[in-house]
Amino acid sequence: MSEVLREAKKYEELTGRTITPAERPLFHLSSRVGWMNDPNGFSFYQGKYHMFYQYHPYGIIWGPMHWGHAVSRDLLHWEYLPAVMGPDEPYDMDGCFSGSAVVLPDGRHLLMYTGVSSEGLPGGGRSVIQQQCIAFGDGIDYEKYPGNPVITTDMLPEGASRIDFRDPKILRMADGSYQALLGSRPADGSGQILIYQSKDAVHWEYKGILAKNMGRYGLMWECPDFFELDGKHVLLVSPQDMLPEGFEYHNGNGTLAVIGHLNEDGSLCEEANQSIDYGIDFYAPQTVLSEDGRRIMIGWLQNWDTASAMREEKLKWLGQMSIPRELSIIDNRLYQKPIRELEAHRQNKTVYQNELIAGDEEITKVDPTDDTQGKDRTFPGVKGRCVDMTVRIRPEDPEKLFDRFTIKFAAAGARFSMINWRPKEQVLKIDRKFSGSRRAIIHQRRALVPSEDGSISIRLILDRFSVEAFVNDGRQVLSAVLYTDQEADGISFTCRGKARVDIEKYDLI
Ligand code: FRU
Repeated sequence: MSEVLREAKKYEELTGRTITPAERPLFHLSSRVGWMNDPNGFSFYQGKYHMFYQYHPYGIIWGPMHWGHAVSRDLLHWEYLPAVMGPDEPYDMDGCFSGSAVVLPDGRHLLMYTGVSSEGLPGGGRSVIQQQCIAFGDGIDYEKYPGNPVITTDMLPEGASRIDFRDPKILRMADGSYQALLGSRPADGSGQILIYQSKDAVHWEYKGILAKNMGRYGLMWECPDFFELDGKHVLLVSPQDMLPEGFEYHNGNGTLAVIGHLNEDGSLCEEANQSIDYGIDFYAPQTVLSEDGRRIMIGWLQNWDTASAMREEKLKWLGQMSIPRELSIIDNRLYQKPIRELEAHRQNKTVYQNELIAGDEEITKVDPTDDTQGKDRTFPGVKGRCVDMTVRIRPEDPEKLFDRFTIKFAAAGARFSMINWRPKEQVLKIDRKFSGSRRAIIHQRRALVPSEDGSISIRLILDRFSVEAFVNDGRQVLSAVLYTDQEADGISFTCRGKARVDIEKYDLI
């Protein structure tokens, strides 16, 4: 084992002990110590789910990338294992970037990742290069292949960048061969997904292009995942440098699902596309097929601009994964639901039905820009920071839509976050402006939610440091990290106009 990896293992073991379980999310996997970004190598191997992650143990900022490691039987309770890789070879000395995993027929676990290094330029100076590497392991220890890199920059199609060539998603095909899908930047500067093929997962050749961005959705496409689901082919990518498009896509790093079918030449014929998550913090998701055939997705519950702005030195870890989400395709849209295993951890069921929420109208001076006004209604038993709560909202009078319905959560005094539903505009907003964040990052995001009669259902999953809102049975999801002290556990409801709600709330234990 290299000195780099030995040091990382020692450091995470010692420092990790100083973090108590209460300082972490209950069900969401968080960095063992220091910084975490993308999920990597999400796979099922030897009776357990394995999750690796982009990892810089030595601080809460991005740095030379290692691969952290955790395992779980139910995707909700995670056990940390020692880090598996560090930047310790000439071809990956600037980082072991994102990648994926596959189980080989001989029982070994294979990790495929991007090795980042630099090369001398003809005119002097140096430039980054990204190449694809593999490592073999037994679920605990992994050895890098001596013949790395296995997909080199010499195997790129014409015009493709040697700098932006990363995040292999390795797939075992029905005939026993392998494909690796790679994020790449063609000559037009925007993203594309390349296909490489192999008989043994070691010797690779270039096959063709799965999908092209053609300057539409951001620039470089990072972290591809690809699968068949409900009769469709689905490509997930995370584009950098997006421009907004209505309420569908927003500025910066975003997420994109392309739904379609395969053409005869193996490329993806696009039928529909959408954001994967409409909230603030979600990026670089990966999927796994569960033992019982469910397609399950986990993303990094952060985003680059928001994560990089954090600099609270007292934090011992930064970065967590989303709740695992079961995927399905309905009417060419990607639906997501919290993994059903979560239901076994629900307790203290509290139900309120057909309650009237009305109040804002009584305020005589209404400032439309101030979402904090209004008479908040609370319900006994409805509070907490580890919560699974479904709220079904509809107008009191079907002929008269209310203006705005607000659910506040993680609330105490001046601190709270909220979800706002404006049925007239069909806009749902997630807002953590008053959550206690001290950075000038994005605090609000809006999504267009079609609703014929003004009704909406929102399932909120709160887990100490995050909220994930599953809208209309998972047709859309909005996720965000929360910065509020754990004592702030209030939940309340308010409406400008009159609405009826059904609330079903559980504590997550
Ligand atoms: C996406 C990403 C990947 C890269 C990794 C580096 O978040 O930029 O493209 O492999 O993070 O940590």
